[in-house]
Amino acid sequence: MPLIIKDEYPETLFRKDGKRLDGRDINELRPIKMEVGVVKNADGSAYLEWGNNKIFAAVYGPREVHPHHLAKPDKGVLRVFYRMATYSVFDRKRPAPGRREKEISMIVADCIEPLLFLELYPGTSFEVFIEVINADGGTRCASTTVAALALADAGIPMKSLVSAIAVGKIDGKKVVDLSGIEDKAGEADLPIAITWYNEEISLLQFDGEMDLDEMNEFLELAKNALKDIHQIQLDALKSKYVKIQEETNKSKEKNEKKGDE
Ligand code: CDP
Repeated sequence: MPLIIKDEYPETLFRKDGKRLDGRDINELRPIKMEVGVVKNADGSAYLEWGNNKIFAAVYGPREVHPHHLAKPDKGVLRVFYRMATYSVFDRKRPAPGRREKEISMIVADCIEPLLFLELYPGTSFEVFIEVINADGGTRCASTTVAALALADAGIPMKSLVSAIAVGKIDGKKVVDLSGIEDKAGEADLPIAITWYNEEISLLQFDGEMDLDEMNEFLELAKNALKDIHQIQLDALKSKYVKIQEETNKSKEKNEKKGDE
């Protein structure tokens, strides 16, 4: 994916052929890859590449709560830590977690909490660590998506997955999946998340102006993209089990051969 740096804000966000600067149509997603089980020391984990975003999520839990005073007697506690590596962006990102990271951690937690059965785990915690190693727009949506996948990989009972996408307006046109430059130089950015068990919106942020008709258009644009993202999440989970099955079959065959000898 072409990466456009901060000091090179272009005058227009569309090319002469009507495509966006990275060659996409208005309703086209950036390339997305997801994989589960990538951090062996975690209870569950996932890795996602979404355009130039590269993000890991690792899940631990249910386990003892640290610090102890955060434990709740009637339910489990979900803690989310979104961090952007200092080398993940062009400007020098301070290593200490800033306000933006705290806000995004909270947003991801709000999207994930309704999916879990925390009441079944009193006195314990679920911790989700999200590390953005390369950022290029839409990391809160990508982080929400990959965090849900890591929880599922951990085998934690969930009502469903949650998927997220940012839609927005650039040069007066409504587009899906804003890249970093589109996020910065465009007119509007609207991150949206859907929890699939009830098909309800669990994240909706917007800064700018729009009327109700425009809002409906944005939601329509997001809907199809969210379905595609959900399918990629499901495929990533399935492919883990297909791999396990293949390995089991192979070792069975090996043992059978040994038995014949
Ligand atoms: O990542 P997301 O769009 O959810 O959040 P944002 O705060 O709207 O940031 C948009 C983009 O700005 C990020 O994805 C990064 O590519 C970039 N950014 C940056 O270059 N330097 C920062 N300190 C924070 C964000």
